[in-house]
Amino acid sequence: MKVLLINGSPRANGNTALALREMIAVFEKEGVEVTLLHIGNRAIRGCVACGACAQTGKCIVDDPVNEAAPLLEACDGIVVASPVYYASANSTLTAFLDRLFYSTHFSKRMKVGASVAVARRGGCSATFDQLNKYFTISGMPIASGQYWNSVHGARPGEAAEDAEGLQSMRTLATNMVFLMRSIALGKEAYGLPEPEKRVSTNFIR
Ligand SMILES: Cc1cc2nc3c(=O)[nH]c(=O)nc-3n(C[C@H](O)[C@H](O)[C@H](O)COP(=O)(O)O)c2cc1C
Repeated sequence: MKVLLINGSPRANGNTALALREMIAVFEKEGVEVTLLHIGNRAIRGCVACGACAQTGKCIVDDPVNEAAPLLEACDGIVVASPVYYASANSTLTAFLDRLFYSTHFSKRMKVGASVAVARRGGCSATFDQLNKYFTISGMPIASGQYWNSVHGARPGEAAEDAEGLQSMRTLATNMVFLMRSIALGKEAYGLPEPEKRVSTNFIR
């Protein structure tokens, strides 16, 4: 089992990192291979809608998006974690995920997704909903925990005091391992369901 964790915070050792460390401890105890990508401090531009990826299956801007693509392809599950900025995921992470999910053509079906929002006070559930949308358009089941996967803290490290938030990270990681293992067994027993040929209907006349 392989899990890819994406830290969208510009702070390498901030509260988002702390939330992810709580999950990583569970993954390692369970023997899950972990790759942590810290992208929040990288210069990542938004999608320019050039359409080049339709031909190549990769983004024309060669940056952390293209570094992450093979890791996403190889993993059984992905955790996407963001500091909350103005009640949304931060813009670096949003640019990264837009381009990663749009440019890559490999199937993401039945890879497990989990999202985590980290804030001083408000906007966690809106951010959680936003991040889950990358998974649900991609045929990816979502792992859930015991809350809407949020951890609270303002100063870097303050989230260590959010005992409930940290417990919810451990529960999320535990449930995610179970779900990934269950899907692996299901693939062996039944195979992946055959997808229909894609229908694409734009709402224009
Ligand atoms: C530009 C900006 C916008 C923010 N917006 C919010 C917000 O909407 N709600 C909130 O509770 N905290 C907000 N915060 C605080 C961060 O979410 C909080 O400090 C969080 O712990 C940062 O995580 P990090 O240490 O991993 O970077 C904001 C911080 C910044 C820099």
